[in-house]
Amino acid sequence: MVQLTDEEKRLLDGEQGPAAQKAMDLLVRYARALGAERLVPTRNVCGTVVANNPFLREFRDAYGGMDAVFSQFNLDSDQVVPIPSVSANSCQLIQSVDTVEWRELGLDSTLVQEQAITEEWAGKHGISMLATCTPYQVGMLPTRGEHCAWMESSAVIYINSVIGARSNVEGRESTGAAMIVGRVPYWGYHVPEHRLGTHLVEWTHEPQESFQWGLLGYYLGETLLEGVPVLPPLATVPTLEVLKHFGAAAATSGGIEMYHIVGVTSEAPTLDVALGHRPPAGRVAYSPVEARQAYEWLNVTGRDLHVDLVTIGCPHASLAQVRDVLRTLRGRKVSPSTSLWIFLPRALRAIADSQGWTRELHSAGAKLLSDTCPAIGRVVPRGARVAATDSAKQAHYLPATMGIQTWYGTTEDCVEAAVTGIWRPEHAEAALAE
Ligand code: F3S
Repeated sequence: MVQLTDEEKRLLDGEQGPAAQKAMDLLVRYARALGAERLVPTRNVCGTVVANNPFLREFRDAYGGMDAVFSQFNLDSDQVVPIPSVSANSCQLIQSVDTVEWRELGLDSTLVQEQAITEEWAGKHGISMLATCTPYQVGMLPTRGEHCAWMESSAVIYINSVIGARSNVEGRESTGAAMIVGRVPYWGYHVPEHRLGTHLVEWTHEPQESFQWGLLGYYLGETLLEGVPVLPPLATVPTLEVLKHFGAAAATSGGIEMYHIVGVTSEAPTLDVALGHRPPAGRVAYSPVEARQAYEWLNVTGRDLHVDLVTIGCPHASLAQVRDVLRTLRGRKVSPSTSLWIFLPRALRAIADSQGWTRELHSAGAKLLSDTCPAIGRVVPRGARVAATDSAKQAHYLPATMGIQTWYGTTEDCVEAAVTGIWRPEHAEAALAE
């Protein structure tokens, strides 16, 4: 039985209009299915409202526009209802159209025109078009303890673990309803006891660089599948970029939505607190043997050493990562047989544009792209057969979604592959041998 407040009952009765009524109806059904006893207010929602695929575009045109899409696919309503401006602070996550560099991605100009209509609709309805899987990098930054409704798994694990905000990995429907009425079922990672550590990670070597953190995340996801791993205290405090990559990897090979690092992450001042003053349910041993195992899993599709595409920025890159690529290029040019694509939030590309980094990268033969990524947007250069990436998540998805061989290595290995057109993972092998 889902207990509703008086205000929630009035919303369900339609006092605030049909869209709010549909949203409440959806959330109550969802809460009931989950076994949640109540809803919790949220002012921070990241979901998707766009009509980027042919089916959604046809639906939009046949049934009367974006209100019809939102009614059906965000509110699960067969009846088209007028959609009001959203009540929660809301944003669009990653989508599939880069409205600036669409030619590089081989997209049709009509998609760009249609995207403009969607973005105008979103703007009128109060939804920020951040168009990234890393909204926390561009201003959508919850506070510790804040209840959120976010969709993207790599972002949810980041805000749960690093910031101490509270979200489950939601869907298009629940985030759509949460945008309208500012509520989400109180279950999973909203509940304090579900946030406590379950498994203790015992390593022989502390990961040193992003590449190694990606291997650890991927190994934990594959081994645990779910749960809340607790990592030991660190000698070196990791950067946002490292934790972004680690969490994305853990949420890709498994369903991990939260972790603790003792002395680093928000709810782990001590091991005892991270575990909730109880013994761990299990332990995970991690040594160079397990790191090598994760490396082999991630490179299982790699055969050809001639690389057609190098993709960096999964999750979307920070400006620090873009600068690293520029420094690693050292003025060299990308091989004519290879594309170097770097994905970042559109807001950060605007900064890269204004400070000359975009021009510098373009003259080296690289491209700064936003709003999408190869795995989600399902875009690779025409005829590409082999990709290289410094992202465990992208290496996991690209072979499945695009049917191409994919190599996983360090950012340096990827930049070298872009310059030479050949995969030689010298940095990765050196890191594995450490
Ligand atoms: Fe983001 Fe695409 Fe990676 S959505 S996390 S860049 S697979």
